Amino acid sequence: MKRTAVLFLLPTLWTACLTLECTSVSGRLKQVDAGNGHVFGVCPKGEVFTLYGSSLIRIPGQLKHVSVGPAGVWGVNSTNHIHRLVKGDWVTAPGLMKQVDAGGKLFAAGLNMGGVVFCLGEEATTGFAGPGSPASWTQLPARLKYYSCGPYSCWGVNTADEIFILKGVTPTACGGSLEFQPITGSLSMIEVSTDGRVYGVNSVGDIYQREGILPCNPAGTGWRHVSYSEKVKHVSYDLGHLWLIGKDNRIMDCTE
Ligand SMILES: *[C@@H]1O[C@H](CO)[C@@H](O)[C@H](O)[C@H]1NC(C)=O
Repeated sequence: MKRTAVLFLLPTLWTACLTLECTSVSGRLKQVDAGNGHVFGVCPKGEVFTLYGSSLIRIPGQLKHVSVGPAGVWGVNSTNHIHRLVKGDWVTAPGLMKQVDAGGKLFAAGLNMGGVVFCLGEEATTGFAGPGSPASWTQLPARLKYYSCGPYSCWGVNTADEIFILKGVTPTACGGSLEFQPITGSLSMIEVSTDGRVYGVNSVGDIYQREGILPCNPAGTGWRHVSYSEKVKHVSYDLGHLWLIGKDNRIMDCTE
């Protein structure tokens, strides 16, 4: 009798630990980025929102992608013009990118329309105040479709959904080792959090987390499937919360 009870209890606990607990956030977003304690996102039509309390509040601007992190709040609009939020308003930065990421430690990184990777050093990133501020982007040797940086590495995926890591990135060396190393697996988007966690979504809409990541082993050890009842198109993690965007642009705030 006793043995039966234990066997029944164990699988229940196991499932509870590995299931996402989600609440929906009202509104629709096509992309979300959580970083450095903030959550920003863009609507299918390009309106920009930030989470304030438990509601999404609209801020000025029209963007196709927004990113928040130690490098500030950066975004790109539908004509690939780069913008940074300065004193509550968007200022334009030189260059054209289809995606800019603010997750690096005090540096911004981005992809141009051809997918070529660029990064902006610490001084230019933190000091960028609008036209007139110096902003010379450094070109890196990779072509990707999605790119995201964290405290000690950047991760990206290419158009074939192959995954790459760039190690050794620092505030003074946003190009790190300058060598993009392949990682086994297949993902269509990937995000590195402010604390260095790595989450991604594959072409089917399944969520994965990289396990075993440490400052001394930034590439980690393998992929863990994060079980969730629906297919998603976008994920972003910050401070214990995994933010999901469903295929229908629904927003979920999840914890494990
Ligand atoms: C994108 O931003 C640039 C610079 O701010 C602006 O001139 C352009 O009109 C914007 N594009 C759209 C489609 O709003």
